[in-house]
Amino acid sequence: MKIAFSPGVGLDQQDCLVLGMFEEGDLAASTTSINLEFVKHAIKTTAFKGKKLETLSLVAPSEMKVGQVLVVGLGKSEKVTAQTLQEVGAKAVSCLQKSQVKRIIVDLHVDSLGKSGEVAASIAAGAQLRNWKFDIYKTQKKDPSCLEGLMVFTQHSHDAGKVFANLSAVSEGVALTRHVVSEPPNVLYPETMALKALELKNLGLKVEVLGEKDMEKLGMGALLGVGQGSIRESKLIVLQWLNGPKDQAPVAIVGKGVTFDSGGISIKPSNGMEDMKYDMAGSGVVLGLMKALAMRQAKVNVVGIMGMAENMPSGSAQRPADVVTSMSGQTIEVVNTDAEGRLVLADALWYAQDRFKPQVMVNLATLTGAIRVALGEEYAGLFSNNDELSERLTKAGQTVQEPLWRLPMGEAYDRDIDSEIADMKNVGSGRGAGSTTAAQFLQRFVNNVPWAHLDIASVAWQKKAHSLTGKGATAFGVRLLNEFIERNYE
Ligand code: BES
Ligand code: ZN
Ligand code: ZN
Repeated sequence: MKIAFSPGVGLDQQDCLVLGMFEEGDLAASTTSINLEFVKHAIKTTAFKGKKLETLSLVAPSEMKVGQVLVVGLGKSEKVTAQTLQEVGAKAVSCLQKSQVKRIIVDLHVDSLGKSGEVAASIAAGAQLRNWKFDIYKTQKKDPSCLEGLMVFTQHSHDAGKVFANLSAVSEGVALTRHVVSEPPNVLYPETMALKALELKNLGLKVEVLGEKDMEKLGMGALLGVGQGSIRESKLIVLQWLNGPKDQAPVAIVGKGVTFDSGGISIKPSNGMEDMKYDMAGSGVVLGLMKALAMRQAKVNVVGIMGMAENMPSGSAQRPADVVTSMSGQTIEVVNTDAEGRLVLADALWYAQDRFKPQVMVNLATLTGAIRVALGEEYAGLFSNNDELSERLTKAGQTVQEPLWRLPMGEAYDRDIDSEIADMKNVGSGRGAGSTTAAQFLQRFVNNVPWAHLDIASVAWQKKAHSLTGKGATAFGVRLLNEFIERNYE
């Protein structure tokens, strides 16, 4: 979809004019060249109130220059934020994706809503976020998207273009994350994920891929144990974006990348097992975030670490009761081979802090089903050893509508993973708080560095459409961490 900003443009029958209306009833449009009396009349005679993201779709009278008009509710004027505007752009796309409309013309009288360039850019970025689909495996495209372009009317097209370039970098990162998370597990496995990462070299990122031999040398018995039942080789992918001050310790972002989680010998029930292709979403977020940072030339040092393995049952698979030695030297009794994400992260986290001495470390993982029980699809779980970091992450999440909810950690929970025969076991006693025991496990691999764990099992994949990202892979975490980094470390 081609995106443009302009103070005016020639209109066409294949265009849809998108207007906004506040809940108080003012049509937020500036178009003077078009007679909008029929729109005003339609608003009066229907139940349309202008509530946030409410829509009114109208066929334009034949004498009008455009074919359709779509009015999108903006809600209460004092509550309109950059996020609302992104949602408005996304809404327009979701309403028109399957129509005959070729071009969306947005006239929200944006120059009155705030900093004009930012307003126009936000609308366009929202549209771009929503205008994504995963249909590469459909040989017959049922609903070919007709949307070729989007034009936002603004008197400040230059400013809008500048702001949009930044937002668009993030949308591109989000699209990459959604793509890899949506790919089936016979196509996307540790090695092919590594190829995806290597492609980012041309954006100026430094990319290294460690194979099983390299990881054996480093003593990564926890990560390697998870992948030992699979014919796919496990990988540790290291991405570096070092565009900040030379003496700035990096921000480390670590992701769980289990490209398929069958549960291993502690095998999962077949019903719903297909969902476990998205068990690499944490690593997908790392990939998309690093792309976004590079594309917008962020002035910061960030390292992204992706721990990649496939969890499969086989004659060579890890057994419940095995004891493995992690890179940290600590031993782990593997009581349940389905609690594999924490084993992957144990070594990935240790490697990140040991090699890069980060100023702060955040990991993302689809770690526990229990987080869904606690939070539904509304929040991701946040666990941390640091209040300031928790606050920064929560604020960033609120800003971009990727909300986090902090959950407790503590010694009593930690004792629950003590093992009779090793330093720890990989599951608790089963008396509840499954997401917290998983977090306690991770914390045993974190030294004196502010650290947070985001359990995204509840939000990485949406069965009902999300306002900005639609159905399926959400890339939850890319926009959040981009905001977190931009606000606090650039
Ligand atoms: N990948 C799963 C967690 C998960 C569940 C992610 C649902 C996304 C949606 C994880 O590896 C797992 O299997 N966790 C177990 C832990 C248990 C064995 C202690 C779980 O949540 O049941
Ligand atoms: Zn599992
Ligand atoms: Zn898993």
